[in-house]
Amino acid sequence: MCGIVGYLGHRQADELIIKGLERLEYRGYDSAGIAIINGSLTVHKKAGKVKALRKLIKNTDTSGTVGIGHTRWATHGEPNDTNAHPHTGENSRLALVHNGIIENYAVLKNALIAEGHSFLSDTDTEVLVHLIEQIQQEGNLSLEEAVRLALTRVEGAYAIAVIDRENPDIMVGARKASPLVVGIGKDEFFIGSDASPFLDSTKKVVYLDDNQVASISLKNGLQIRNTDNEEQPPFIQELDMQIEALEKEGYDHFMLKEIYEQPKTILDAMRGRINSKDSRVALRGIEEYANRFVRADRIIIVACGTSYHSGLIGEYLIEDLARIPVEVEYASEFRYRNPILSERDIVIALSQSGETADTMAALELAQRKGAMIYGIVNSVGSSIARLTDAGSYIHAGPEIGVASTKAFTGQVTVLSLLALTLARKLSTISNTYFQRLVSELELIPGKVEEALKANDHIKYIAGEIKDHHNALYLGRGYNFPVALEGALKLKEISYIHAEGYPAAEMKHGPIALIDENMPVIVVATNKSAYEKIVSNVQEVIARKGRVIAVVNQGEEAISNIADHVIEIPDTEEPFSPLLSVIPLQLLSYHIAVELGRNVDQPRNLAKSVTVE
Ligand code: F6R
Repeated sequence: MCGIVGYLGHRQADELIIKGLERLEYRGYDSAGIAIINGSLTVHKKAGKVKALRKLIKNTDTSGTVGIGHTRWATHGEPNDTNAHPHTGENSRLALVHNGIIENYAVLKNALIAEGHSFLSDTDTEVLVHLIEQIQQEGNLSLEEAVRLALTRVEGAYAIAVIDRENPDIMVGARKASPLVVGIGKDEFFIGSDASPFLDSTKKVVYLDDNQVASISLKNGLQIRNTDNEEQPPFIQELDMQIEALEKEGYDHFMLKEIYEQPKTILDAMRGRINSKDSRVALRGIEEYANRFVRADRIIIVACGTSYHSGLIGEYLIEDLARIPVEVEYASEFRYRNPILSERDIVIALSQSGETADTMAALELAQRKGAMIYGIVNSVGSSIARLTDAGSYIHAGPEIGVASTKAFTGQVTVLSLLALTLARKLSTISNTYFQRLVSELELIPGKVEEALKANDHIKYIAGEIKDHHNALYLGRGYNFPVALEGALKLKEISYIHAEGYPAAEMKHGPIALIDENMPVIVVATNKSAYEKIVSNVQEVIARKGRVIAVVNQGEEAISNIADHVIEIPDTEEPFSPLLSVIPLQLLSYHIAVELGRNVDQPRNLAKSVTVE
């Protein structure tokens, strides 16, 4: 949510910053801006995407070797040129970019106005830069010291980067509850919300921790202090990430590329963790805490959005296979409802970004209450990955399309491994069944490949149903969360209203909506509830609903009556979501493309939700 880039070195900063912003655009894209120091401080900003900013500065002089940039997802103040970042202080000496929310900005703003400050924008960010500039000038302080002191007066969440016209060889960054990473190149430094803006220049990074202030200069390098003014030695890491992962590589959209990557990303999530030859499943994070898991009274999964849906599948998997009670909670609700937790509970957070504010807060609460906290995260080195006692990465690589796809299947794969690991330790399933499941899980990447072959047929179906204003998604058992996920995917990228329901719940209300204008997408691959779902499909057809059914290859009962049928390979029931979600991802993708939507950057959304 909001992307920050900064550069300090010997190269021209403008192009590096603009390119960096383009890579961070998934974090927010309602306005963008850049500030460069070259004798004076020049700021350019524009409502709209980074390409509007690029156009704006095309024929202007933006030369200079130190600068910061920002791509915004609005919180305070509508997305327009004035509210775009960077913001400058009263004397236009400092420029600052910010990701997060300054909660006490109104109090600070009133105090600054009383002292003669005037504000141009409606943002909380402008207040912060005025405050830093005032503190700096009053005490004749260094930029780092002024930032540090200002932050002790700020409540809320922030990642910031600041530059100073009077000290052009310095750049300061700081974070609390929003991510910020420093890239260390050869005689040059970068700042980013993540490492993607500078990955082609350096893979040496330092992830800042909460309450840390980084002072970066070519002369003194990187120095970090916390807001209590204690020195913090930087922990330098070498990233294992390839730049190609950030490119579309011939696909029209990142979302499509990421859907097609799933055979590989599911395999990567399993790599080194499963081997059917010696009947082995091992998640390292679990092994270290095996006793806690085996003795756990309860597992609580906290997550948001798509990750919440994979959490629901996790509930089915863990209860079904390992017989440990599981609850799944929206992180935003859990954190505020004073939940009952004990040391015998394990709280698992699912998060692609590892930065979701509500999920972080839910984990912090669980930790305070003594529960063990475990993370299943994609983004390496992210805040959740660093906060948790233990965890497992899903290894899906960067997910850039705002609609989550490969992270979902990566999470479900790791949850499947987790359930199998626990089932083995607790002897809750027979050896034969365990062996069968392990062998089947290894086959899933190939079966996803097979499921993707329905793409052209799904594209045709998308053309048939794209003009409807509503859609209903139905599924039972393991495929109920898949129905929820299918509906979310359609909503977020096509802006068509959709709801997911357990198929049997339809007759308790939603059936009233069904007529010839209601496409009903039914996930009908379950073995155990198959006969029941056939009856549900009959109920829809009796009311003239249009049925699009996802079935197993060779299925007949539903195929004979549905308007459209999408076939996927058969699998063991616990793994069916890994296959059944594929056509639903493709269906929402093609509908959004048919409708001319911005698939990778749907309106109002941002990839990484670092505010409440
Ligand atoms: C939907 C989507 C969001 C995220 C949610 C949680 O396609 O991407 O619903 O799933 O914002 O994000 P993470 O997983 O990063 O915590």
